[in-house]
This record gives sequence, C-alpha cells and structure tokens, in this order.
Amino acid sequence: MQFSEKILNTPSSFIRNILKVTDSEDVISFAGGLPNPISFPIEALKASANHAITENGSRLFQYSSTQGYAPLREYIAAKYRRVHGLDIHADDVFITTGSQQALELLGKVLINKGDGIVIEEPGYLGAIQAFTLSEPTFHGVTLENDGLNLEELEKALQQPNVKFVYTVPNFQNPTGLTYSKEKRQQICEIMSKYDVALIEDDPYGELRFQGEPLPYIGAGKLEHSILLGSFSKTVTPGMRLGFIITKNKELLQHIETAKQATDLHTNIFAQYVIYDYLANNDYMEHVQKIIALYKNQADAMLNAMEEFFPAHVDYTRPEGGMFIWATMNNGASSVDVFQKAMEQKVAFVPGDPFYTSKTDVNTMRLNYTNATPEVIREGIKRLGSIL
Ligand SMILES: Cc1ncc(COP(=O)(O)O)c(C=O)c1O
Repeated sequence: MQFSEKILNTPSSFIRNILKVTDSEDVISFAGGLPNPISFPIEALKASANHAITENGSRLFQYSSTQGYAPLREYIAAKYRRVHGLDIHADDVFITTGSQQALELLGKVLINKGDGIVIEEPGYLGAIQAFTLSEPTFHGVTLENDGLNLEELEKALQQPNVKFVYTVPNFQNPTGLTYSKEKRQQICEIMSKYDVALIEDDPYGELRFQGEPLPYIGAGKLEHSILLGSFSKTVTPGMRLGFIITKNKELLQHIETAKQATDLHTNIFAQYVIYDYLANNDYMEHVQKIIALYKNQADAMLNAMEEFFPAHVDYTRPEGGMFIWATMNNGASSVDVFQKAMEQKVAFVPGDPFYTSKTDVNTMRLNYTNATPEVIREGIKRLGSIL
C-alpha cells in the first residue's frame, strides 16, 4: 500500500512511544503528561450522567449540532465574560473533540501546503503533530522565560504566507513557563501590525498555584484572536471536550464545515454530562483541590532538584500547570541521559520532539502530577546522580 506524504512526514507521538517503555510498574515516570486520576470527580460525574439521561432521554443518544450543545457553549461564554471580562457569547464558542481537534481543524481551515506557522520553540508536541498534517512551513521562535523572543517573532511574521502564531501563554507545555504581562502587551502590539491570526491555547490556565492571573495576549484586542480551552485538565480528559472561542464568524463557518467532514459533531453524551456537572457542582472548589495537589507535587520536585541536581542544570519554576523543563548547560544529550535514566528506572521526555528545527538537544520535560512527593524525591535523586 502507498501512503500519503502528509502522513509519512507527520511524527508519530514520541511521548506515546516512550510511554510504552516507561509504563512498567517499577519505573518512576515523569514522562507522561496526564492529569492525576485522583482529580477526576467520579462520583459527581456518575450523578450527572444519571441526571442528564433522566432529564434529556434520547437526546443524549442522538446526532446533534456541529457547533456543540448550546447550554454548554453559553456556560463557557458566561465564564469568559465573568472571569476574563471578554465580550464572548455562545455564538462565539465552538465545541471540539478535545482542544487537540481544534488544532487539527485550524490547520485544515487556515493552511495551504507550505504556508507559514509561527510556533514556540520548544512547543507543544501535539500541536506540531496536528499542524504537520497540513504540510506547513514552521517558523520556530525561541520561547524565553517571559514569552516569545520579540525580534525573532517580527522576523517570522515577515516570512511569506504566515497564517497564524501558535502560543500557550500559561504554564506552557513543555516548559511550564508563563508569558509576562509586558511580553503579552508587546506581542499584541506586534501582532496588530500583521494580518495573521493569534492562537492562544490555554488548557492549563485555571491551574495557577502561584502569582496573579494575567490577561490574554490578544483576546478582546486583536481582530484575529483565537482562544482554545479544554475540560481535560480540570474535569476529565477521557470525555474529550475542548472548545474554540473567536469573534471571527467566517472562521467559525469554515471550522464548522471542516468539523462536519471530520466527525459531524463532538460526543453529545459527554457534552450533556459535563454541562450537568458544571451546572450542579462547585467547579471552582474542585479546581482548587487540583491546584493544592499539584502545588504540593511541584514543590516536592523543585525542592528535590535544589537538593540533588548539579549546578550546570537549570530548570523552570512553574506558577501552575503540570511541567518543569530542565536544561543541561554542559551540553549533554538528553536522549543519552534518558537511556541512562531508564537503567536506573526513572523516566522523562527528552526535549527533541518539542522542536521543529533541532535534534539532539540538552533539554528535558518533567511531569510532576502523577507521583507522590516521596516518589518524586526518589526519582529526582536518581536523576541527579546521572546528571
Ligand atoms: C498545550 C496543549 N494543548 C492541547 C492539548 C490537548 O488537550 P485536549 O485535547 O485533551 O483538550 C494539550 C494536552 O496535553 C496541551 O498540553
């Protein structure tokens, strides 16, 4: 059988492949990016599933609208009005099968083969994968401690046929970094000079355990602003519910066509259940519990790094989310370190798959949300001795 160039050129998920080796019981794994299962509100979701079926009967089991369940879209819009002060209405919200699907749909709708996508370097692996299917030209822009490098951003925006800039402004995957307020304003000013969309992908924004929430870069300010959100990190990833928010009606129309072609609509059962859950539970109280859990785990990892990592290793100090990013300033290869670490039964994700233009890098992603503080300390101790 002959396969398309587009699939042959798309990287298979490095992390999913790594997880096959790191999944064994005796490995301390910082490789995954999964929410901690103890954060899933299982009892409340059980009640919501029953309640939603009793209230709505066959509607949970029928085909449904492509944009998504209207009350859920209104709930999301109301939250963005209340929390972020944005003029968002249900018509500006489009439900997707996880925010991962939003990335793939945006690629389909906006990218011709060879068109430019500006992406953080390092950037979210799943976005690189989703966009690669549209055969773009990637323009990587260095992600600094406070956000994108501005000179590189301007230069990238001047390349031919650039369609959008993709960012994760809060507790970025893979680095855990958050854009500063100043950088957000500067990026917004730069973007306002170009006819290029800004995607702000924000699945972690609510999981802030330190510092003040910051306004979005372009939402409410830039004409071509696209916000992405998800219930994966705060309620459940398994139900696959994410959303796109944009005021651009033409864009939404094209997304609707692409979504019809892909899967007609997002799982309607899941949309009813999550809506019932959100309407009948104290969501913010639930999120606060996740924040407390992850803060404790992040502190355990940072304290252990302080104790066991050699001076040539720098690492980020996230204010929220699920990841720490470490850089080995002695130029060691993270793939080599990964192999040594596996011998000591400790795992992480080597930095390579997060770059569109580099290999054999000296960086690594460490996830802290899936182990107890004691196990985190032991894993970092082992890693420290290898480093
Ligand atoms: C930055 C970012 N965007 C999108 C996703 C996809 O999330 P989901 O499709 O579960 O909403 C993830 C998941 O890890 C992510 O880290």
